[in-house]
Amino acid sequence: MCGIIGYIGDRAACEVIVKGLKRLEYRGYDSAGIVTEDGGKLHIKKGAGKIDELTGKLGLLEMPGKRGIGHTRWATHGVPNDINAHPHSDCTGKIALVHNGIIENFAELREELLKRGHTFRSDTDTEVIAHLIEEELKSEPDFEKAMRKALLRLKGSFALGIIYTGEPDKLYFVRNESPLVLGIGEGENFAASDVPAFLEYTNRVVFLDDREYAIITKDSWVVKNLDTGEVVEKPVKEIGWTLEMAEKAGFPHFMLKEIYEQPRAIRDAIHGNADAIRTVAEEIARHDKIFIVAMGTSYHAGLVGRYLFQRLAKKVPIVEDASEFRYEFEDLIDEKALVIAITQSGETADTLAAMKLAKKRGAKVLAIVNVVGSMATRIADLTLYTHAGPEIGVAATKTYTTQLTVLTMLAIELARVLGTASEEYLNELEEGLKAVPDLVEAVLQHDEGLKELAEGLRDRKDFFYIGRGISVPTALEGALKLKEISYIHAEGLSAGELKHGPLALLEDGVPVVAIAPSGKTFDKMIGNIEESRARGAFIITLGDSEELRRVSDAFIEMPPVDELLSPIVYVVPLQLIAYHLAVLRGNDPDKPRNLAKSVTVE
Ligand code: F6R
Repeated sequence: MCGIIGYIGDRAACEVIVKGLKRLEYRGYDSAGIVTEDGGKLHIKKGAGKIDELTGKLGLLEMPGKRGIGHTRWATHGVPNDINAHPHSDCTGKIALVHNGIIENFAELREELLKRGHTFRSDTDTEVIAHLIEEELKSEPDFEKAMRKALLRLKGSFALGIIYTGEPDKLYFVRNESPLVLGIGEGENFAASDVPAFLEYTNRVVFLDDREYAIITKDSWVVKNLDTGEVVEKPVKEIGWTLEMAEKAGFPHFMLKEIYEQPRAIRDAIHGNADAIRTVAEEIARHDKIFIVAMGTSYHAGLVGRYLFQRLAKKVPIVEDASEFRYEFEDLIDEKALVIAITQSGETADTLAAMKLAKKRGAKVLAIVNVVGSMATRIADLTLYTHAGPEIGVAATKTYTTQLTVLTMLAIELARVLGTASEEYLNELEEGLKAVPDLVEAVLQHDEGLKELAEGLRDRKDFFYIGRGISVPTALEGALKLKEISYIHAEGLSAGELKHGPLALLEDGVPVVAIAPSGKTFDKMIGNIEESRARGAFIITLGDSEELRRVSDAFIEMPPVDELLSPIVYVVPLQLIAYHLAVLRGNDPDKPRNLAKSVTVE
């Protein structure tokens, strides 16, 4: 996730862009840069660091010109440094562009362009696009046509801002699976990843859809279809948001915004790891002793990972909370072990300590991390990024579902390497994973109903979350979300455990949330639900079988999905229930009491 802002008009472009970048910093903040054009020449300034630091250091506010584009980066390909910061330009220095997203086939394109004599300055996937357009321009002098030809070769997600010296009065913006919105002013126009970037100047906006591009001049704008080049009629909308509302994209809290961002985040996690997953799976395949270490929500992701690895790859990792691992497993770790550390922040003290211990004992360490350049990525031998973008709400939501996405990809690939599941089934699962963002989208439609459900439950004191098999971690995660933001006591457990003790706590009206996707233990689950019902519990079920209606006080109907993919989809209503209960009880879900976003002390 990165931020883009473009401006064309009569103001000093650099001033509008620097302000816009500040407002987009929530989308990424490891490096930034600006290109402006003046007198037919492009001026580029960029570097690693936050906008405030760079503004003084690079003199961003002294850049000449009345059209330009800026970028704030959240690295995907290539470490955050001065060279990899955007904008990137071609060999002639006539084209410069900024990019938000991931180009999946960049390695292949880069190879081709290298053969054609292009030289690359950065490690980014983005730079390939500038060179590709330059290459097309050699045979197609019309810039717009050449740009389209080049972009049609890209696979992956991209929002782009492009400037070309040969077209002095224009800026181009392109959208495919990464957001872009135009801001329509008087004698000036804007484009950005998000409305707050230009809301100070105009509240008239045009939202681009996937595979559309816009050409803006000072006095005009037009949107076209990327595949056909035909003009698309787009409505201009007036936004009634205040700046603060706009920063949360109109959502009352970051947590809710982040819950709603999950379809996009999961897609990015899939695209962003497509290239790297094979090499990592091959490394895992070489190890018999596999440990997964993590804390909190990331630990729950690790538990789901265990089910995925054991079911698909017939490998059973030991999943341990990192604070325990250090003391309990020290003697068992050696150079034959592989330790997978899962941490969204990459800064959790317990997880870092477990990783350091593993390294000291000669084990290989793989990190699954959201924050690029964080400590965990520096300790690890190998890193996979979750590509969720910055998560501001303290409660982990999109970072969890993207961790699950990466683990699912890893388990599928590992099974492929080891030959432990049929290729047909693995392909089916892979296709199923690609459809998960749409399923999450469908589940988000239940939001109003879940809010009503929460209203009826706001005064309850205890909740129980039960599941079986791969749904046990979902039960744990549902309970954790509720505890941390609503401050209601909650327990997550395997449904089979109920009658070994916890059943004694069930009485009239105590909510029992049953995670019950169709699968091999569904019938057993019905039995456990009946046990709870017989004690007067208020039964909330999540599942895709009509049979659940009969045994439920509230039934949350879920779309059918392979059981192995269900944790990603089923956690979403649980996040929403926790969110609504927190708000109904007057809590700020973004800043729960006593908790911090990253726990940097042991
Ligand atoms: C819960 C939550 C925490 C974190 C835990 C580990 O919503 O966010 O339980 O999951 O503190 O944090 P990371 O993943 O940053 O290591």
